[in-house]
Amino acid sequence: MSQAILSLKNATIYQEDKVVLSNVNLEVNRGEFLYIIGKTGSGKSSFMKTLYADLPLTEGTGHIVDFDLETLKENDIPFLRRKIGIVFQDFKLLPDRSIQDNMLFVLRATGWSDQNEMERKIEEVLDKVGMKNYAQKMPHQISGGEQQRVAIARALLNDPELILADEPTGNLDPQTSVEVLDVLKKINGNGKTIIMATHDYALLMKFPSKTLKCEDSKIFEVVQRTV
Ligand SMILES: Nc1ncnc2c1ncn2[C@@H]1O[C@H](COP(=O)(O)OP(=O)(O)OP(=O)(O)O)[C@@H](O)[C@H]1O
Ligand SMILES: [Mg+2]
Repeated sequence: MSQAILSLKNATIYQEDKVVLSNVNLEVNRGEFLYIIGKTGSGKSSFMKTLYADLPLTEGTGHIVDFDLETLKENDIPFLRRKIGIVFQDFKLLPDRSIQDNMLFVLRATGWSDQNEMERKIEEVLDKVGMKNYAQKMPHQISGGEQQRVAIARALLNDPELILADEPTGNLDPQTSVEVLDVLKKINGNGKTIIMATHDYALLMKFPSKTLKCEDSKIFEVVQRTV
């Protein structure tokens, strides 16, 4: 197994016919925790969308969790997304059903059928984010931070090697953001690779890690100042 879980070479990322990021060259190794920062509109989400094949890679090459992005077929996308856990700013839980049923929905949609196995898996992932006792709650009965922890648990259901989180703390207060980062760091400590887009410089200072910045259609590594 190669060390790199993601590599992009000479990639250009477009939205419609506009270049968002050009000449992207990067390699992310298994087990890394990588931040993507940059002003609004600088291309963080477009970068993430390219990685989970919501935006096709039309220029350059990209290799992610054993898929080639430039040759990826529509039919391959669900299989790619099983190897990647995705977490969004707005949680995206289905509001009309319990936490347990949100999880069951994802498991069934990704080929699970054994009821006992599904229940065991749901308990395992909820336990990882400290939400084991909330399975029967409806999304509106729990706080934003708790919903985000559930969304992280949902992202873990198919044991992804890589988690992509696009501003996962964007809707949360500073204290709750720290709690969510604690969860992501713990998951990273257990060997999962995490790429997280964020605006939140306070979090970067509190949990320093390798950081890439999007600016002027480029993405490049920045060295964090600790003063
Ligand atoms: N669906 C779309 N169609 C056309 N252009 C888009 C689309 N989504 C984003 N863009 C444009 O692409 C550029 C990059 O947007 P992107 O959403 O990647 O930025 P971002 O860094 O994630 O910003 P934010 O911090 O506000 O989330 C912007 O100029 C934006 O207007
Ligand atoms: Mg964005």
